[in-house]
Formats: sequence, C-alpha cells, structure tokens
Amino acid sequence: MSLDVVILAAGQGTRMKSRLPKVLHSLAGRPLILYSVETATSLSQRPPVLVIGHGAEKVRQTVGEAARYVLQEEQLGTGHAVAQARELLSGQSEHVLVIYADMPLLRAETLRKLHALQQRNPGPFSLLTHVTDTPRGFGRIIRDKGGLVRAIVEEAVATPDQLAIREVNMGVYCFSAGWLWENLDRIPLSPKGEYYLTDLVEIAASEDLPIQAMLLNDPDEALGINTRVHLAEAEAALRRRVNRELMLSGVTITDPATTYVHPTVRIGRDTVILPNTYIWGQTTIGEGCVIGPNAIIEDSAIGDRCRIVVSVIEQATIEDEVDIGPFGHLRKGAYLESGVHMGNFGEVKNSRLRKGVKMGHFSYIGDADIGENTNIGAGTITCNYDGEKKHRTTTGKNVFLGSDTMLVAPVTLGDGARTGAGAVVTRDVPPDTLVVGVPARPRARQTSRRKKKSHQEG
Ligand code: UD1
Ligand code: MG
Repeated sequence: MSLDVVILAAGQGTRMKSRLPKVLHSLAGRPLILYSVETATSLSQRPPVLVIGHGAEKVRQTVGEAARYVLQEEQLGTGHAVAQARELLSGQSEHVLVIYADMPLLRAETLRKLHALQQRNPGPFSLLTHVTDTPRGFGRIIRDKGGLVRAIVEEAVATPDQLAIREVNMGVYCFSAGWLWENLDRIPLSPKGEYYLTDLVEIAASEDLPIQAMLLNDPDEALGINTRVHLAEAEAALRRRVNRELMLSGVTITDPATTYVHPTVRIGRDTVILPNTYIWGQTTIGEGCVIGPNAIIEDSAIGDRCRIVVSVIEQATIEDEVDIGPFGHLRKGAYLESGVHMGNFGEVKNSRLRKGVKMGHFSYIGDADIGENTNIGAGTITCNYDGEKKHRTTTGKNVFLGSDTMLVAPVTLGDGARTGAGAVVTRDVPPDTLVVGVPARPRARQTSRRKKKSHQEG
C-alpha cells in the first residue's frame, strides 16, 4: 500500500549549543540527516519529504536529490512541521510515516513493521514506544486502565507522576493519510508556544479512535540526539551494531571496544581486525587480511590476504597479498599492486608500485611509477617537488635502487638500472646501467647477473 515518509529536520537543535544545525552533526563520519533519509528511501518508491528550516540550504546541499523538500519558515513545533507537507502530499498516498531526523539508529525493518501494524489498524495511527529507565527527555505515554494509549505528555509539562512513567514516545508514527491531513489543524498551541504532533494522540483518543502502540525492543534504536552527550552515545551504539554485523558475517574482531568501523565499510570473510583500528568512509577490504593493530584506513580499497600493521592508509588502492608496516603511510592516489612489500617508515603518494616491488625502510615515493620487482633501498627519496611544480619519476622492471638514492624528478630509469648507495640521480638512466655518485654518472661496469664485459673506467 502506498506510503509517503515525512522526515522532520527543521529544528535548530538548541541543546547541541552549536552553530551547525543539529542534523548536520557527524555520526560515524556522515551527517546525521543521511541516516533517516537512507532508511526512508528503503521504505517507499517515492523520495521522502524533508521538512527543513534551520540551516535549510546547508541541509538541502547535504541531502541533494535524495529527498523532496518543504520549508518550515518558523519552527513552531513538530505538528506545525508536518503540516508544511500537507499541500505536497495530501491525496497522494494511503499512509504517511513521520519520523524525526534526530533518531538515526531506527531500523527500516522496525518502520516496516509499524506500517504493517497500521494497515491492520481501523484507527487513525500507530506509533512506536519504548520502555526505559532512562527517558532522556522523551515524551511519556499515558495509558488508561484498560491499557489504551490516551495521550503523550512532553517532559517539560509533565507532572511528577507522569515523569515516573517508563514508557516513552519514539517520535515515529504511521498515519492514515486522510485523517492526518484533516486533523493537524486541531492541534492546540502548547504552553511553550509550539504545536506538538504528539497532541494528535489526545485528539484521536477523545473520539475513542484506537491508537496502536508498537513496543521497540532494541534500546539502541531509541537513541534520539538532543545533546552532544546523546551524539556520543549514538556513536558508541552504532559502533557496536556495525562490529556485531561484521562478526556475524565472518570477520574476526579481537577487541570490538577499540575497533571503529564506519557503516559504509565492506569487509570480506576471515579478515581479522586487531585492536585500536579505525576503518572509515568508502573503504572495502577483501578476504583473509590481517588489519592492525593500530591501523587507520580511510576511503581505500584493499584486496585479499593483505597485512597492514600500525599504518595509515588514505584514498589508496592495494591489490592482493600486500604487506605494509609498521609505520607505513599511503596517501591519496597510492596504488600498490599484488605482492608489494612496504616496511618501516615508508610513504607513498600518487604513485604506482607494480607487482613485487620491495620498499623496506625509510622511503618516500611521490608522483612515481615503479616497475615490477624493483628494490627500493633504505632511505630512497623521489625529489618530486622543485618548489613550484611536481614532477614524475618512472622506473622500469627489476631496478635496484641503492640505499639513500635521491631521484630528482623528472627522471626515468630503464629496466634493470641500478644506483649506488647515496646516488643523486638527476638524469635519465639507460637500461641495465649502474649509476653512482653526486650527481650520478654511469659507472663503466656491467650490472649484476649479466655477462661481464671488460671496461675501462672513464
Ligand atoms: C520529540 C517528541 C517526544 C519524543 C522525542 C523522540 C514532540 C512534541 N515531542 O521531542 O515526544 O519522545 O521527540 O525523539 O514531538 N522539528 C521541526 N520543526 C519544529 C520542531 C522540531 O522540524 O518546529 C524537528 C527537529 O528538527 C527534530 C524533530 O523535529 O528532528 C524532533 O524535534 P526535537 O526538538 O528534537 O523534539 P524532542 O524534544 O526530542
Ligand atoms: Mg529530539
């Protein structure tokens, strides 16, 4: 049956004490608003309607085409906010689901159940409640002796008896659309000068129309964000949820308490995540890897059977069977092909290390293409920046770079080229040629493993 979803996101979020609108604060690396928008999108063919107001333009920019928008110019309460969607939605769908943008951990599955409940309800709406010892400012559910829901009382205006009630309002309602649009205007002005959506409960109850309440079991879903303390609680809950799902899908996490994986990350089976590891953003990790301890990986793609220990990987691509660390740093545009080894204190930026490259110790490779099976000696540096421009370094296959080689870009080394320790390479090196010294010059001696010709030194 047709469903429209309305998301309320116009409030300022005064209790956040922030210049940033509440719904743009970040949860696990993404603005809060995107959680409810994504959940809503999975529930209906039609894009959700976002009620925006405070920081409207920024919110619109963040969500983009994923939603339809209506503006609530003055924030006169949740009832008033829903009324802004009436013109757009009236007569469009059978049911309207209303959710608040500050409840990011609600599951689509829960909302689907609520919709199903309302489909069986002869009354005007169904709502989600939760029983808790820590009501955190939520509205209290007032039931009559027969257990029927009669009202929702906001904490600000509740009596001590009402404050003791442990069943609270989640702010999630599935309405029969016709009834909603007809009755919104009956909501009275509250003592705080707002129109509370929650007052629809009393309006329906006064006419003995049945309201269904669905009890939420998972306390994490009930985390609404009104303060930064709640934001941290939601962050922790989301982390538990993500880690649990990963473990159930075949990933080993030795210490979930110190493993920080964003919900956007994908990790393959039999990968082991060791403690104190952060995996963020649009990252994918293949099967059978060992990641950590102490790894930070952001927006990167990692293949199968890789090993990454005490290292930082940003916007990089790593094929299979690569090992990195301890203390490696891959930056934007680093691409390590299969079988690359990168040991202590290496940094790679905007460079491709082809199959089997070994880079053991203290090297910087920037703006370079390093050919297959090249050995990068300890302390090798691509001098890629001349103070104005960046230049590229290219090496062929099976190159041997002696310890402390400086490759002054732009420079190209042919297949099988070799440099002596401390060489400062300022000119291109032909294939199978050994260069030494400062600036590096060919040495009239054959490179290794080749038949020796006799040469005089020049
Ligand atoms: C609301 C409920 C409360 C419930 C709680 C669950 C009301 C009156 N109270 O309280 O019963 O337990 O949520 O999280 O509904 N908003 C607008 N326009 C407005 C006012 C608010 O769009 O004029 C939006 C806010 O941006 C927010 C949502 O509505 O996303 C809820 O507003 P908020 O002020 O957080 O309400 P709560 O005090 O949490
Ligand atoms: Mg709230």
